[in-house]
Amino acid sequence: MTLGQYPTTRPRRNRQDPFTRRLVAETTLTVDNLIWPIFVMEGTDSETDVASMPGVRRVTLDRLAAHVEPAARLDIPALALFPITPTSQRDEKGTEALNPDNLMCRAARLLKREFPEMGLIGDVALDPYTSHGHDGLVRDGYVVNDESVEILSRQAVNQAAAGIDIIAPSDMMDGRIGAIRRDLDAQGLVGTRIMSYAAKYASAFYGPFRDALGSGGLLKGDKKTYQMDPANSDEALREVALDLAEGADMVMVKPGMPYLDIIRRVHDRFAVPTFAYQVSGEYAMLTAAMENGWLDPERTMLESLLAFRRAGANGVLTYFAVEAARRLRNG
Ligand code: PBG
Repeated sequence: MTLGQYPTTRPRRNRQDPFTRRLVAETTLTVDNLIWPIFVMEGTDSETDVASMPGVRRVTLDRLAAHVEPAARLDIPALALFPITPTSQRDEKGTEALNPDNLMCRAARLLKREFPEMGLIGDVALDPYTSHGHDGLVRDGYVVNDESVEILSRQAVNQAAAGIDIIAPSDMMDGRIGAIRRDLDAQGLVGTRIMSYAAKYASAFYGPFRDALGSGGLLKGDKKTYQMDPANSDEALREVALDLAEGADMVMVKPGMPYLDIIRRVHDRFAVPTFAYQVSGEYAMLTAAMENGWLDPERTMLESLLAFRRAGANGVLTYFAVEAARRLRNG
């Protein structure tokens, strides 16, 4: 072999300078791809750390505007709100979910007033409100479907009326997207979008989130009779097809990194706006290694987010949103 003659095709040529690497990059990550989940709690003038999620805080409403300000300044398109309901307000039926003045609705009204441009996403499921920590109504130890759907759909209307722009049902009941669309439209809320947690798995990666909400200790049993089996992939396509047929505007796959194959299949098959949720356990895992100095914080964070874009996701719900936006804005 004569030096310089073989091979003729050298993929490394396109990698040799930053400028070619930029020209041939197939995917990009920008602030437009980020959605920031936030935790709000009752009380005044306080913030608490979520121990298993370093850097994530629960904040009271009087501090919410200051908390959200950096995200607004960085032009993050949307927030996903999660309320921490005091234990005394949780009951068997999740009644507080229907209160027009519940924490979620007050947070939504406040944020719409302070940041009219910011998109607000409301999680629809009963788990922040139930004494048993399940996403629907429990009868004889089973989470019943159709009765749960009726309440969830009223919860969705309640949130939309308070200013939530995108309803995000995370409960995995059958038929809830259709029921929610019907009820939103009946109330004249035709512009309210639905981002369904279409393929949501019964995952161990939600542990830190349940700590943040205070629902982990309450949860009786597991969510395997409604959330999907991590063994399944074809079933995710069926779930997505149903939600789209029922009127979902966007779909989500959750968790994120262990399910990149699902994101790819969903996006290839349906070509609809597809989102990924980099969940609490993924964040905990990454930040734990970063804090130990085992992973480079900035590079690992951005690589973990770019991977979702490469897999076909339009955007990512991530607890890194503000940090990532800062890095992306600073080039
Ligand atoms: C509620 C809900 C969960 C998450 C989002 N919405 C937890 C669950 O289903 O138990 C998890 C988010 C995360 O882990 O970051 N239904």
